[in-house]
Amino acid sequence: MCGIVGYIGSQRAYDILIQGLKRLEYRGYDSAGVALVDCDGKMSVHKSHGKVANLENVAQAGNINGTLGIAHTRWATHGEPSDINAHPHVSQSGMIALVHNGTIENYAVLKKVLTDHGYEFKSETDTEVLVQLIEYIKLTSSCSLLDAVREALLQVEGAYAIAVVEQNDPDTMIVARKSSPLVIGVGDGETFIASDATPIVGYTDQVIYLKDNEIGVIKRNEPLQVLSLSDNKPSTISIQKLKLSLAQLEKGGYDTFMLKEIFEQPATLRDCLRGRIVDGCSRVTLSGVDLNKERFMKAERITLVACGTSWHAALIGKRLIQDFCKMPVEVEYASEFRYGNPVLNEKDIVISISQSGETADTLAAIQLAKEKGAFVYGICNVVGASIPRNTDSGTYIHVGPEIGVASTKAFTGQVTVLTLLALSVGQLRGAVDQETLSTVLSALSKMPETIEEALKVDNEIKTLSRVFAYAHNFLYLGRGYNYPTALEGALKLKEISYIHAEGYPAAEMKHGPIALIDHDMPSVVIAPNDSLYDKIISNVQQVKSRGGAVVAIVSKGNTSMSDIADYCIEIPNVPECLTPIVASIPLQLLAYYIAVNKGKDVDQPRNLAKSVTVE
Ligand code: M6R
Repeated sequence: MCGIVGYIGSQRAYDILIQGLKRLEYRGYDSAGVALVDCDGKMSVHKSHGKVANLENVAQAGNINGTLGIAHTRWATHGEPSDINAHPHVSQSGMIALVHNGTIENYAVLKKVLTDHGYEFKSETDTEVLVQLIEYIKLTSSCSLLDAVREALLQVEGAYAIAVVEQNDPDTMIVARKSSPLVIGVGDGETFIASDATPIVGYTDQVIYLKDNEIGVIKRNEPLQVLSLSDNKPSTISIQKLKLSLAQLEKGGYDTFMLKEIFEQPATLRDCLRGRIVDGCSRVTLSGVDLNKERFMKAERITLVACGTSWHAALIGKRLIQDFCKMPVEVEYASEFRYGNPVLNEKDIVISISQSGETADTLAAIQLAKEKGAFVYGICNVVGASIPRNTDSGTYIHVGPEIGVASTKAFTGQVTVLTLLALSVGQLRGAVDQETLSTVLSALSKMPETIEEALKVDNEIKTLSRVFAYAHNFLYLGRGYNYPTALEGALKLKEISYIHAEGYPAAEMKHGPIALIDHDMPSVVIAPNDSLYDKIISNVQQVKSRGGAVVAIVSKGNTSMSDIADYCIEIPNVPECLTPIVASIPLQLLAYYIAVNKGKDVDQPRNLAKSVTVE
């Protein structure tokens, strides 16, 4: 949610910043901007609403020189997407420029104080307040930019990752973070900063993840300094090796990142499973669980917290943990959990699930759970993100960077890890019998090949997607393990095609949503051969009797559904608990092709951002 990037070195900053913005565009793309400081101490600021390509058109008509610069791609929170509201924001004198990811909660109070001191505001943003405050402090206290930034941040409530430059100092960039991510890339005579590591890949693999309440002072040709915001004392700097490659950030011949990520799933699940199923598919090893056996043995309850697609994975996780660990499980939206006065103690385990590891609500839920004494476990994709750094233990899903805003490979990775986790805890607590364990593990170990098989419906779904050009509403129905799959299928469709879609437990439909069904309202029913298959057949009949078209996702070899449903899409046979992973493949493809047919930008759908770092 908003991407920031910065550079100081000997190359032209503009080129590096624009390339960085393009890599960060998945975080926000309603406007973009850049501020460049050249060696004569002149600052050029270029901003534009819309995508980074618009910014390039605007910037190239002006001065783009300078070897120091900061840039931003925005996801609007305060003020509509426009040239004026785009970052960087510049102080009243024009001397200081700032980019910001996050929200300044007390901006209205600060704005009033500054207005009383004669400051005028051009934009509607909270960010402009911060840059004006920095300037006000600097001028009234005659202090350095660093001291002014520090003092201003002490007055600010909210979340931020910021980068600040000053016109008359082409050798310095100040950065800081609190609850929004910021990575510093240390190169040879050059330094990069970014919201995540993607803009840095290819320049250096040496990175530092700034911690909350730290300020970084980046000076040309001088060692990096990191200070604690509270006491101004130097913090320990830990340089880590970045393991991202350029190939992972490219489309690899596909039209979109989303399609690439859908088709990558055999490989990503192979990476996700690697080394975790052992002893001839008879045992699971997850270091996060193995190192905390006592905690998992003594736990009386597990609560899963997440948002969006990760929350759908959590719902499947609940079923898995109930089935294999035989213990109470709750699932909460992180945003509700954090304000819901949850009753927790040291016998509770809270599992947070997040692709990005930066979702603000999930981070707040973790914080609260820790304060209440729970053991907090993280399931995350992005290595080194805030969630893995703030949890007691956890497991990475290892599916590689997910760039398409609509989550696909992360979802199947999350469900895979939740399956491993449930089996691992179940084996530890003696709650799962060896035969079940071996059957599920053996099927899970073949999941990459199974998904390859599932992807073969691609052409069939491409054709099917054209049938639904008429539909403005969709219903997605599923039961048991596949009720969350239905929610996820509906979310995929609405996110990228802007078609209204509702996921519902199939049997619950008759208590209300059935009123919506007519010839114009197709239903997608997830109906693999599982313990509830016979039940869902009658739900399909209820839809058909009211004239609704039905697309049924059925297990290979199914013969009974084709007499009832209008279209049947086959998925490979797997144990019931693994059907959500396999059934999500045709749902991802269906949403994808319907959106493409409508001419939508599937990688960057309107109003969305990949990682939601604000409340
Ligand atoms: O990074 P996270 O998994 O914490 O993100 C949670 C949601 O914002 C995310 O899953 C969102 O719903 C996706 N756009 C779904 O495709």
